[in-house]
Amino acid sequence: MRSLLLALLTILLQSQEAFLVKPYLQLGDAPRPARNERLDLLWHAEDRDAAWTVEVRGGKGWIPQTAPSFRHLDVPPLPAHRIYRVTLRDLAPGAAMPYRVKQNDAVVFEAEAQARKPGAHRMIVFGDAADGSKRQAAIAQAIQAQHPDAVFITGDLVYGRGRAAEYRSVFFSCYNSEAVPLMRRVPFLGVPGNHDVPFSKHPDAAAYFAYWSQPLNGPALKAGDKNAAPVILGVHDAVVAASGAAFPRMASFSFDYGKVHWTVLDSNVYTDWESPALKVWLEADLKAAKTATWRIVALHHPLFQSSRAHFDDQWMRPISPILEKYGVDLVLAGHVHNYQRTAPLRFKPTKAGLRGKPVEGEFTVDEAYDGRAITRAKGPIHIVTGAGGAELYDLWQTDARASWQPWTRTFISDQHSFTVLDVDGRTLKLRQLDAEGRQLDGITLTK
Ligand SMILES: [Fe+2]
Repeated sequence: MRSLLLALLTILLQSQEAFLVKPYLQLGDAPRPARNERLDLLWHAEDRDAAWTVEVRGGKGWIPQTAPSFRHLDVPPLPAHRIYRVTLRDLAPGAAMPYRVKQNDAVVFEAEAQARKPGAHRMIVFGDAADGSKRQAAIAQAIQAQHPDAVFITGDLVYGRGRAAEYRSVFFSCYNSEAVPLMRRVPFLGVPGNHDVPFSKHPDAAAYFAYWSQPLNGPALKAGDKNAAPVILGVHDAVVAASGAAFPRMASFSFDYGKVHWTVLDSNVYTDWESPALKVWLEADLKAAKTATWRIVALHHPLFQSSRAHFDDQWMRPISPILEKYGVDLVLAGHVHNYQRTAPLRFKPTKAGLRGKPVEGEFTVDEAYDGRAITRAKGPIHIVTGAGGAELYDLWQTDARASWQPWTRTFISDQHSFTVLDVDGRTLKLRQLDAEGRQLDGITLTK
């Protein structure tokens, strides 16, 4: 017993020294399920040479993985550091696979990676979270207690400006900590919000592109393109260099988890989803998802919501007819710091989507769907789940029903919360839970 404790203590101490950010899992450029699943494992370490190896435990013992690669990120205020990356391969679908990281032959980290599940699974979704607050930490604890198979963040991943230094102080320090060791066990996915792209002159802004590893199957954008995240030459060069092929392409992508097809859209103001470059991709992506039972669109800026805050940020509304055409079931957004759910609805825009101006049109609302007795929806249901940690908006509207749009069915703005999606075959259950794990809202969808 004593020697076991000593061994654990040694790993802990060595691991403390070895990492600036401990290993965390990402889906990597693996959008579709496979017989041999894979996950990317990333970590940050000091900018000095060391012999790193990673092993996954298979049936016959520890299997060495290919050598990790790294990129430098040398931009103040953090000291220059390395972002290491390795792909864990041949993972059995749905299995929890033990893995370990060695530095100079000493084991410095051990955990278990949850490989993508082929069927029933639990995905947890929230947005607008990492601001270093106690609320963020409480929601993170509550999420861990729900044992997700994967986590999706609907943007505003890191406050205040998506900077590398902020990732270190408020993001990894929360979701990949000893108290909440989530990111080392399950992949986190996400979409950049307005706080995650380089709208600021901080040279370490837009660290999303360097620190995340997600599919590169989105619209084939290049730096400087009209629909790509704008960077300032001479300011953001280091982050762009550390991002490789991920910049700017990784801002939008799609992936499948179980029988759910996820279409993830960069909805920042510089994108125009009515332009052919983006629209053609969106249609093709949804059209190709023929074997999926469920279709989810995830983005930062909601199409339909009732909060006074950001009410006129409606520029994504014009894509609604495309989502309806291809049978999208759920649209998950953040940006607005509260929880909202609409009735299933269809929308025909009658006016173009000018930035910051209301987008008018005709609504067809499925009044019959109630999520309990009647569970087949006619049209997408729109969810705002932006209550993941940052300060809440429009608390008074929870009890002011008259202030809600006619198609809003639930509006909870006085509590932080997150969304649990349980998908099993032709049944999808959505529950909104608070930081104590209490259910605030719940609906069922069936096919
Ligand atoms: Fe936002």
